[in-house]
Amino acid sequence: MIGGRTRLAGVIGWPVAQSRSPRLHNHWLARHGIDGAYLPLPVRPGDLASAVAGLRASGFAGANVTVPHKETAAALCDTLDDAARASGAVNTLVFTAEGIHGADTDGAGFMANLAAHGVQAGPALLLGAGGAARAIAGALLGTGVPVAVANRTPDRASALQAALPGVRVVGWPPRDLAGYALLVNTTSLGMAGQPPLALELGNAPAGLVVADIVYVPLTTPLLARAAERGLRTVPGLGMLLHQAVPGFATWFGVMPQVDRETHDLVAADIPAR
Ligand code: ATR
Repeated sequence: MIGGRTRLAGVIGWPVAQSRSPRLHNHWLARHGIDGAYLPLPVRPGDLASAVAGLRASGFAGANVTVPHKETAAALCDTLDDAARASGAVNTLVFTAEGIHGADTDGAGFMANLAAHGVQAGPALLLGAGGAARAIAGALLGTGVPVAVANRTPDRASALQAALPGVRVVGWPPRDLAGYALLVNTTSLGMAGQPPLALELGNAPAGLVVADIVYVPLTTPLLARAAERGLRTVPGLGMLLHQAVPGFATWFGVMPQVDRETHDLVAADIPAR
């Protein structure tokens, strides 16, 4: 029950109705009996600065930030964590008396999801060069894993390389998967309503792990084809669940668990294929 002392947070996006974050955070709030609420916050492009100032002035503990606001949000912060400084994007805002702190937990969320699937990262090929690719490339490089990036628009791959000089750029679409231990789709291809990712997996090494950050549907066409070939797969939903942990812990003061119940509750709202 919302009352006068209820702690508030939410997810800022446009559109935001499709976000599964309210379902996830409110599940954790109920599980831990916390007097808190987590709201969808539809904020138009151009309105982010006034919305963030308004939330902070209204006593919100903080907010998640999603498409299309992650880069703009970074510019509004007084302090950034290392990951946000590297990616230039923020998905978690914490409001304090001193100001606005921004974190980018996408990379750590990706790594935690790999670990939860028992996967140790090896030489990686990332498809895409958007904000998610930057976060994941930064996290992988941070663990000493070599990272290559392929992107439809070469300039964007070059920009990513300029920000993260350890990255190697390869042509789009990549044809040779030899030498990679991990393939990660960070593009929107394969998402419900988008065309599938047309990538030839015929020459994939037998040990290749195929990860997708798309989680609608839960099993993307890429993951389905990889599984048919006997490759190990890591679906994207776990990254969403794990990237949410630091924000929840900071705003509500309890470290939530990403477990089977949490996964199934959020997955129940998402088409399987
Ligand atoms: P995010 O910040 O979530 O990563 P984004 O910045 O919009 O999202 O990036 C989307 C990625 O999907 C980009 O790498 C984009 O490629 P371009 O830089 O060439 O636009 C990629 N993408 C989207 N649609 C694509 C398509 N039809 N074919 C190939 N890549 C596509």
